[in-house]
Order: sequence, then C-alpha cells, then structure tokens
Amino acid sequence: MPKEASKRRGRISAPSAAADAKPWSARFDEPVDELVRRFTASVGFDQRLAKHDIAGSLAHARMLAACGILSGADFAAIERGMASIGAEIENGSFAWSLDAEDVHTNIERRLTQLVGDAGKRLHTARSRNDQVVTDVRLWLREAIDVIRERLAALTTALLDQAERHAALVMPGFTHLQVAQPVTFGHHLLAYVEMFGRDRARLADCRRRTNVLPLGSAALAGTTFAIDREQVARELGFDGVAANSLDAVSDRDFAIEFAACAALIMVHLSRFAEELVLWMNPRFGFVRLPDRFCTGSSIMPQKKNPDVPELVRGKSGRVFGHLVALLALMKAQPLAYNKDNQEDKEPLFDSADTVRDSLAAFAGLVAGLEPRAQAMRAAAAEGFSTATDLADYLVRKDVPFRDAHAIVAHAVREAEATGCDLADLPLSVLQGFSALIADDVYASLSLEGSVAGRDHRGGTAPRQVRKAIARARARLAAER
Ligand code: ARG
Repeated sequence: MPKEASKRRGRISAPSAAADAKPWSARFDEPVDELVRRFTASVGFDQRLAKHDIAGSLAHARMLAACGILSGADFAAIERGMASIGAEIENGSFAWSLDAEDVHTNIERRLTQLVGDAGKRLHTARSRNDQVVTDVRLWLREAIDVIRERLAALTTALLDQAERHAALVMPGFTHLQVAQPVTFGHHLLAYVEMFGRDRARLADCRRRTNVLPLGSAALAGTTFAIDREQVARELGFDGVAANSLDAVSDRDFAIEFAACAALIMVHLSRFAEELVLWMNPRFGFVRLPDRFCTGSSIMPQKKNPDVPELVRGKSGRVFGHLVALLALMKAQPLAYNKDNQEDKEPLFDSADTVRDSLAAFAGLVAGLEPRAQAMRAAAAEGFSTATDLADYLVRKDVPFRDAHAIVAHAVREAEATGCDLADLPLSVLQGFSALIADDVYASLSLEGSVAGRDHRGGTAPRQVRKAIARARARLAAER
C-alpha cells in the first residue's frame, strides 16, 4: 500500500483538532497553513449575512421536512437551535471562529453543538455555493429597500425646499458662466429627476436580485426531490433561478447594484460640488446649517462644507467597487469560484456609503437657507436675459439669427456702459432695432424671463409647482 494512503487513513481515524474544524478536512493530509487559514477566511466580513443565512437555512430545512427528506423531529431541533444562535448573535455572545472560515460554517458548527445530528443533516441537498449567493441576494434586497427609502426621504426634502422657493430667481449656468435666470425650485427639481431615475433603476435591479438560487447546490442541482418553489415563497423571492450553474456563479445582480450606487454617488457628488461653490462667499447663494459644517483648528473664522466635500470624495470608492466587481467576474469559468468571496466587501461598502451619504444630504437639504439677494444679484449680472431680448425680436418677426446679432450689439453697449441690458434707455435699445418698444422691459426683467418659460419642463414658477405636484404623486404611488 502506498505510504501516502496509509497516512491519510490514520488521520481519518484520529482526527486532529484542526481537522475537526473544517467541514472538508477529512479529505486532507495536513492542517491548512496558518496564513492560508486567515487568507481564505471570510467570517470577518460575511458575519453581516448571519440573519439571512439563518432565514435561508430555516426555509431550506422546513422544505426538506415537508418533502420527507428530513424528519419532523430534526426540523424542530434545527428551528430551536437556530433560535438560540440568532439570540447569541443578537446579544453578541456568539463565538465567531476563524477556523470555521465563514458565516455559514460558523453557524452550522454551532447548530451541531447545540442540537447534534440534526445540525449535521441541515446541509443535505445544499452547498455553500447556493447558500452564499442566497444570503447575498437576501441581504442586497434589504439594502436596496433601505436605499430607496433614503432616496425618497431626500427627494421629499428637495421637494419641500423647491416648493418654498418655486419663484426664487437665481442664475442658471452653462460652462459655469451665468447663462439665463432660473428659479431655485427648478434647479432643485433637476436633482429630484436624477434621484427619481436612481429609484427606478434600483427597483429594476431588485427584480433581478430577487430570484432564489437555493436548490442549485454546488453547481449541478441535487439528487433529492426538493421543492424550490416552497423555499422561494417562504423567503419572499419572486421565482427560482432557472439554471444551477448560472445561479451559483454569476454576480451580475451585485454589479448592477454597484452601478446603481455609482450613479447615485455621481448625482450626490455633483450636488455636493454645487453646494461647496454656493457656500463660498464669492457666490454666497446658500447658508448650510452649522451642524453640517466644521471649523478649522487653526483658522478661527472658518466654516467648511465638510459633509458635501466628504460625499464628493466618497463617490470615488463607490466607483472603485463597481470596477472591482466587474474585474472579479470577468475571467471566471463556470461555475462557482472562490473569487466570488470577494464580492461582499465592495457590495457592503457601496451600500453603506450610499445609504449614509443620502441620509446626510436629506438633513443638509432640509436645513439649506438660500440667500435670495445674492442669487438675484448674480442673476442680474452677465446679461442673463439676452436670450429673452432675442426672443422678443423674433416675436416681432425678426429671424432668430438676426435677432441674435442685434442683441449681441446691445450687450456690447451695456458692457461698455457698465450696466445691465434692462438699464439701457429705450432710445439706446431702439438704436439697435426700431422694432423695440416700451414693453421690452417686461422681457428683460428676471421675473419676466423665468415666467416666460411656461411649458412642461420649463423654469416658470407655475411649472415648478406643477412639477412638484407630479413628483409628489409619483413618490406616493411608489410606496
Ligand atoms: N465564503 C464563501 C464565499 O463567500 C462561501 C462559499 C464557499 N464555497 C466553496 N466552494 N468554497 O463565497
């Protein structure tokens, strides 16, 4: 008999302490290397899945019992054991062990300590491969729901501010140069639209996340006559995964979520950048509540917009997580590979970062105080109603291109005089076009300019109020 084989059999009959720890160690000749033990363990971070791991195991065990694969007594023991484990985890007394590698093995090992053989029967017709992705899907489904709630809360804060300031005039920018007057309400509603699409994207991602992998077992399915639909129903999944190889291996639902998260951070980061600019005294458009700012340890006069800056900065890590998950997936042959263990930290951190950033912004927006005078003064600078003058001439049948040129001359005159278009006397304006009459000043005023853009999607206060009503109705319908 070859030496190796006899050595192996010797170990089987007298398992070492280390061999006891791993569910697969009976197959091995020597305990795992200490570094490898730490390197391969995921329990440090996948503990977060514990609640869902228990829920998944209970649904699986209940189904096994219903199908006659597990006895009623064993199921009762598993239920009892899982209740204790849930309580231990909740109150912090659960002894997580690196030896047990991950959340699944830790819980199963404790279950066996508590209820004996019934605990060892739980893994019938299951693998950690379908177990882990079931846990992740359950976890993500919940995270998506929390984030959609946070998005809704931020949207409500934006709508409340937009309503208060539906008619407040501020400069609208292109190229960060004053372009045309808009209302503050209209500006805020731009973000309502972005976050509305973010909510819709998450709802869509949730549909593809909410599919049950259990039953796929390691990769090929199981030889037991299981009832996957029962498990799906109990866990609130919309259906069962159609292909076992796909179910245990792909993490596209997680990548989709990371992409949704990245876009939310893009939107928050753009808004953050605007707040930082607006808070700068050169703009002076808004006052941020003190509770969202911090001071400087050396410069006593400082009040810094730390929260928007941090959110802008944190967007980077969320973008990074998306790329990490894409790279993690791209070269994996079917089916499960240990690479997938790396899906969790990026996913968890993306969800945490987005959730907290949204919460911070909801508070920030609710406490935002616009400075009407500074906004108006800035809107009045830079000839922001020049397009309105051109439109006025077009209404008098001047072709738009000609009107554009006429107004350009008027702007140069105003610039040379050091005044705004609305300050030019009628006689001067008439020098550029005889068609200009006294009624032109209504178009040149800031209020006239915004009120004139009175169509769906336009900045007129009347339209802003209508858009707010529509957005509120949309939000209510989603809940
Ligand atoms: N900790 C593992 C993970 O996160 C669980 C699945 C392990 N499966 C395996 N065949 N090693 O992916």
